[in-house]
Amino acid sequence: MHFTVEAQRILGDRIAPGDIVIDATAGNGHDTVFLADRVGEKGLVYAIDIQASAIEQVRLRLQERELLTRVKLHIADHKCIKQIVAPGHHGAVKCVVFNLGYLPFGDKSITTTRESSIAAIDGAASLLKTNGWMTILAYVGHPGGREEAQAVQDWLEAHADTFAYQDLRDPDNPASPILWVVEKR
Ligand SMILES: C[S@@+](CC[C@H](N)C(=O)[O-])C[C@H]1O[C@@H](n2cnc3c(N)ncnc32)[C@H](O)[C@@H]1O
Repeated sequence: MHFTVEAQRILGDRIAPGDIVIDATAGNGHDTVFLADRVGEKGLVYAIDIQASAIEQVRLRLQERELLTRVKLHIADHKCIKQIVAPGHHGAVKCVVFNLGYLPFGDKSITTTRESSIAAIDGAASLLKTNGWMTILAYVGHPGGREEAQAVQDWLEAHADTFAYQDLRDPDNPASPILWVVEKR
């Protein structure tokens, strides 16, 4: 299974034109472009990445496709997600995409961490509307990856009363990425 493709396939059915959505790890911009396309001219995407070079890459990718006007780009730690999203959009967000880990073809020493990811998921949870969605894709192969994935699992179990979730992984591969699909009840 290609997990990033699967996450987009799942969200594709759930995002409608005009929605407000967040890419919490914009990276090379593949998910941001997908989201910008789905929300249409009247929608809005917040795209966040801690690396300025990644955000510049995302800007170029969006410009090429004439999608930039529907995206707000932020060079920031996603643990500040609640400060980044306009107060008027709190509780109105339809989905948040987390693709954790490091930037492919980038500096592999810059990865998401357990602490910032959990703070970001916590913030994202409060920004979502009822029946809003999060996808969280975690990789366990890099230093700290397994601990980060365990922290995500712990967070979901602790919030099972307000968030329904299922996880997808390759059962034959102990190092499989894990994709959680999460719905706010
Ligand atoms: C797996 S990549 C994301 C790929 C991206 N979704 C795409 O479509 O190309 C993970 C990204 O998370 C970013 N990142 C790491 N720590 C972060 C943090 N604390 N806040 C925001 N972004 C972070 C990295 O810079 C990297 O670009």
